[in-house]
Order: sequence, then structure tokens, then C-alpha cells
Amino acid sequence: MGGQYSRESSKKIMKNTSKRIKKTVYIKTFGCQMNKADSRRLKELFAMEGYNITEKKSKADVMVYNTCSVRGHAENKAMSHLGRLKFAKKNKPDLKICVVGCMAQRMGEEIIERLPHVSIVVGPSTMFRIPLMIEEEVEGVVLDTADSVKEFSDYIDEAACEKSEYSGYIPIMKGCNNFCSYCIVPYVRGREQYRDKSDVINECRSIAKKGIKEVMLLGQTVNSHPRFKDILKEAASISGIERVRFVTSYPGQMDREIVDIVAEHSALCNYFHIPLQSGSDRILKKMNRKYTAESFLDIVLYIREKIPSASVSTDIIVGFPEEKNADFQKTLDIVEKAVFDQCFTFKYSPRPMTTASKMDDDVSVKVKKERLAILNRECEKRALERNKMLNGKRVELFSEGGRKGRTDTYKIVFWEGSPSPPGEKVIVNVKKAMPHSLKGVRVL
Ligand code: SAH
Ligand code: SF4
Ligand code: F3S
Repeated sequence: MGGQYSRESSKKIMKNTSKRIKKTVYIKTFGCQMNKADSRRLKELFAMEGYNITEKKSKADVMVYNTCSVRGHAENKAMSHLGRLKFAKKNKPDLKICVVGCMAQRMGEEIIERLPHVSIVVGPSTMFRIPLMIEEEVEGVVLDTADSVKEFSDYIDEAACEKSEYSGYIPIMKGCNNFCSYCIVPYVRGREQYRDKSDVINECRSIAKKGIKEVMLLGQTVNSHPRFKDILKEAASISGIERVRFVTSYPGQMDREIVDIVAEHSALCNYFHIPLQSGSDRILKKMNRKYTAESFLDIVLYIREKIPSASVSTDIIVGFPEEKNADFQKTLDIVEKAVFDQCFTFKYSPRPMTTASKMDDDVSVKVKKERLAILNRECEKRALERNKMLNGKRVELFSEGGRKGRTDTYKIVFWEGSPSPPGEKVIVNVKKAMPHSLKGVRVL
């Protein structure tokens, strides 16, 4: 079904239809940075077609919900949000509600069955045909196929950034080959595909010319790109690009050379996001994560030695099947030794299709909650410890608008003093450290 909406025909129709009456589109994004990057691209496509983009649902003729499937909670949240839109549809029968992204890919028909006010359900790669589908008044379900997934690599050839922003998301790969036993991503996003290094660098250059100062190189396992290290070095030397970040680093492919490259290039941010998931080798094995707690710690300690000011953040899952107290203690042990700057913590959520969903989800909700609370407490303690090291220091921020900005280590800082537009450089004297942010006074 997907084949008839090819990229070429989509581009052609877009050119031919630019004169028609302007419609307004509202796009809401759930999920990870991949989805955020996709939504930006989609906004560009709608804008090319002559649509107005709105932040106000009440103004929309078309609503697009870009969804996530990573945990049951993410799906439930999106479904209840979408459920409430039936009133909007009742008041405006011509309203087109489109569900795109990972949950659309996973649930397909089920979404339209449960939410009859939804018109179009489209997978993550195929979603770029939505403007065309609306134009042709096509309704229904169009999911990703192996072909449509392949096509996407052509589709990300133009700069994905918004004029009001100073930072651009640049996907360098898509999909994932790792099949961690708990994770739905490989099933909804397909296998890994790498973007050519020259395309990535050209996009960085092109957004630098538009005034973008920061790029975030994206991939589910960004460091598995075969030319990752070259991309880092080249992106770091583009004139105008002052900060380069990359997420997410897979621990098994995180080597010392990457740390050395970051240390050598001032434009490469001193920030590493490396998900631990568990500190127990037994659980890591069941998760099909291909590294050990020791090798994980080794790389974090190397970062600490080589770049003491660098931030290291992580993701941790508690309550994976068969996680015993002793396994959980091992996770706490790594948290204590690694002293993460930030931890994103989750209760295990069985996902359809994954191999872990066939295992007995034997850690009770109560124990999962208890472990999460203990873990969060420990993580916050260490994060505060790290943030306190900045007390009394001057930090350079890129403003995110108002009186809030980020350091190159990705820490959020609020300041007293005059506000600043997004992207402006601000120097703040840090006065107070909290676990998730810092406060200070603007000095420049
Ligand atoms: N590609 C990244 C992770 C992407 S998903 C990596 O390999 O690390 C973001 C985070 O969601 C994961 O790191 C994991 O901690 C969490 N997550 C994924 N599937 C989950 C599940 N089924 N239950 C709970 N947390 C999950
Ligand atoms: Fe999911 Fe694992 Fe791939 Fe990350 S590396 S996206 S956790 S399968
Ligand atoms: Fe969610 Fe899809 Fe990202 S499942 S985490 S939006 S790749």
C-alpha cells in the first residue's frame, strides 16, 4: 500500500499545489529526539506545501500526533490524549487527525478501531507522505515497509531546524540492530541505516549558514555509525558550529578514542549519554546488552580522568524479569561509583513483540516502585554532588529564551538578571546547585 506514495510524486504534488487555500496544521510530539527531529522535518514539508503551522489546537485543520511506543505508559498517554480529540472532531467535522510514528506503526488498524475520529495512521518513515495523502484525500492506515524505510534515507537530505532555534537535530542513522530484549525500537523503526558522512556534514554546514550554533547528532546507537569518529571531527571544525552533541552512545561501542576526540575538539560538548540499564551482568545478559558492568564503569572512569568537568548521563531500568535484590544492589553500586550527572530511570514495562515480553514479569509493581524510589534518591544525591562542583563558578550558557540556558555539559541553569533570546551566549555566576538544575546571577 505504501508504494504509491513515492517520494518523487510527493515532491511533484507539493510543487503543484502551492497556490491552493492555506490550511493550518498542529503537530504534537511524544517520545525521543528522533521523533522531535522527524516532527521538525514534517513541519518543513507542510510549510513547503503552503500550510500555516500553529501551536494552537483550536486553529488547526490538520492535527498530527507523532507518537512513541517505548513503554506502556507512553502509549497510554498518547491514546488518552487522542481519545479526547473526538470532541474537537465533532465541532469541526472536516478536521483531519493523523497519528504517526512508532505507536502508529505498532498498533496500525487498532488505533482507527478504538478511535474512529482518527483519519490517517502512518508509520515513522512513511509519515513524510502525509501532506500528499491529505491532498489526495486518502484516509486509512499506511505503515512502513522495508522499501519505505529505505526511502527515508533520501528524505533527510535537507536541514532540519527551526528559525527561532539555535540548535538543530541531525539524524546520522536510523533504526537499531541490537534487539535488547525489552525494547520495541527495532520492531517499529527497522534495522540500522547510516547516512553518508558527506550528507551529515553538508547538513551541518547548511544549518550553520542559517545561524544555527549547535547541532545534536542523533541515533539510537549513534556511535555504531561506521564513520562516527570522522563525523565528530569534521562537524567540530565547521565554522559557525560552536557546540556538537551526540546521543545516544551504546556502551558496548563506546571506546576511549571517542573520549579522546571529544577532549581534543573544543566544539565537541563535554557531555556523554551512555545508558547503563542495569549494573548486574546477569540481568545485562538477559537484556541482551553486549557489555559488562565493569566495562561500562571503565569507560565512565576514563571520561572522568580525561575530562573531569564532563557530564555523564544514563538510563536505568528497574524490575526487569528475575531482577533480585542482589542485582538491584549491583545497579546501586555502579551508580555510586560512576557518579552520574543525570539519570533517567524507568520501571520495566513489557512490550509486545520483544523477547522479554515472553519472560515472566515477576517483579511486583510494589517492588518496582520501591526500587525506583531508592534509585532516584541515590541518583539525585550524586547529581547534586556533581552540580555542587559548579557552585561559585562562572559558566557559559546558550540561552534557551528568557532566563534559562544550558551549559555545554547540558546542565540547565536559571539566572537572575536580564533575559536573553534563544541562542545568545550568557555568562552566569552559579549560586545554587540542585539535583536537576542550577541557579545563578547573570554577569555578562
Ligand atoms: N537507544 C537507546 C535507548 C532508547 S529507549 C539505548 O540503547 O540506550 C530510551 C530508554 O527507555 C532506554 O535506554 C531504556 O532505559 C528505556 N526503555 C526502553 N524500553 C523499555 C521498557 N520496555 N521498559 C522500561 N524502560 C524501557
Ligand atoms: Fe532499544 Fe537496545 Fe536498540 Fe537502544 S540499543 S534502541 S535499547 S534495542
Ligand atoms: Fe519512542 Fe520510537 Fe523514540 S518508540 S523512544 S519515539 S524511536
